[in-house]
Amino acid sequence: MEIVICKTKEEASRLAADMINAAVKKNPKTVLGLATGSTPVLMYNEMAKAVKAKKVSYKQVKSWNLDEYEGLAPTHNQSYRYFMNENLFKKIDIQLKNTHVLNGLAKDLDKECAAYEAQIKKAGGIDIQVLGIGSDGHIAFNEPGTSLTSRTSVVYLTPSTIKDNARLFFNGKLDEVPTRALSMGVGTICEAKKIVLLAFGENKQDAVKGMVEGGVTQFCTASALQMHPDAWVFCDEAAAKKLKLRKYYAWRSATKLGLKA
Ligand code: GLP
Repeated sequence: MEIVICKTKEEASRLAADMINAAVKKNPKTVLGLATGSTPVLMYNEMAKAVKAKKVSYKQVKSWNLDEYEGLAPTHNQSYRYFMNENLFKKIDIQLKNTHVLNGLAKDLDKECAAYEAQIKKAGGIDIQVLGIGSDGHIAFNEPGTSLTSRTSVVYLTPSTIKDNARLFFNGKLDEVPTRALSMGVGTICEAKKIVLLAFGENKQDAVKGMVEGGVTQFCTASALQMHPDAWVFCDEAAAKKLKLRKYYAWRSATKLGLKA
């Protein structure tokens, strides 16, 4: 796992966007796994800037999103489909038909999840998976206690995730946050060829510590990334504060990226 530690979230977002833009330039048919939440928004803005400046094109890129709430229509302003349209897809030249988000309104949710896995496989698998991290160390909606080999399925949110999501979205209304969602599994995520995880702010300190320096445990599902051969974590100093070896990680990753440490 490579940990890139930047002074600000803006700088970390720029570096992460550079990594994705460079991959898309190299392979215009890159398959992306995408994430929602407040964290990737700055990176998505950087990707949009590069498209606008004609430095890269996402025309042939295909994407699959990590998760979606159960019961929310794609047009619902708190659905992850809506979020992606507004925060990324409308801002870049990706073709909407090439973007995929789980359907939280599907009649048969298990069938929807199995079909999603099959689509990803047919596309040749995910080349780069973007991730945020929950304050309890979850990736996508894989809460503590989820098998580290799990596949896309219906999942149950913890009270702390419901609270976090109500705080940032849903106008703070706890009872409006769905309690179940459809989510790529930890096993599904770990099959991506490359991982780009973003973590910003003090609120993520414990999650980042658990992911990077804790044991591999289903209590912190992000820790499964320790087993991934090409996982990159982009964080700001606040999120990295509890890492024992943070100076070493910063030096190593800056050297690998050709930056001044
Ligand atoms: C939700 C999403 C995750 C995201 C997390 C953190 O649980 N399912 O994919 O990483 O929120 O969100 P934020 O970036 O807003 O802190």
